[in-house]
Amino acid sequence: MRVFDHDFKRGDSVGLMLAAANRDPERYENPNQFDVARGGVGQLGFGAGLHFCIGAPLARLEMAIALPILFERFPDLEISEQPVYANRYHFHGLEKLMVQV
Ligand code: HEM
Repeated sequence: MRVFDHDFKRGDSVGLMLAAANRDPERYENPNQFDVARGGVGQLGFGAGLHFCIGAPLARLEMAIALPILFERFPDLEISEQPVYANRYHFHGLEKLMVQV
């Protein structure tokens, strides 16, 4: 485990950024590239360990069912504007994703 060189003072706040977990350059070759077939070391989108997402099987099932239907109905679906990410502290997510069909 990497130890960061930082002096903490009493009263400092420490934030653990789950949002960065899948973009760790020490773990992934192309950390900022969206690649659904990335493989290799496990992805951390559903967390890990004791608090691993309890809804992960449901979410995976929903995506496995819904995404093929979406792409079948809209074969020309594409992103039409630069995605806007939400200014949230804990979870990384989109504020706005504009598409055209
Ligand atoms: C794509 C969809 C989803 C993503 C990316 C996701 C992501 C996550 C992540 C990263 C955590 C760990 C949080 C932490 O360690 O602090 C988590 C926990 C959790 N998720 Fe999800 N989740 C999704 C869908 C769902 C669904 C559909 C449900 C319920 C039906 C759900 C219920 C929960 C619960 C209850 C926890 C807390 C587990 C615990 O603390 O022991 N999630 N989720």
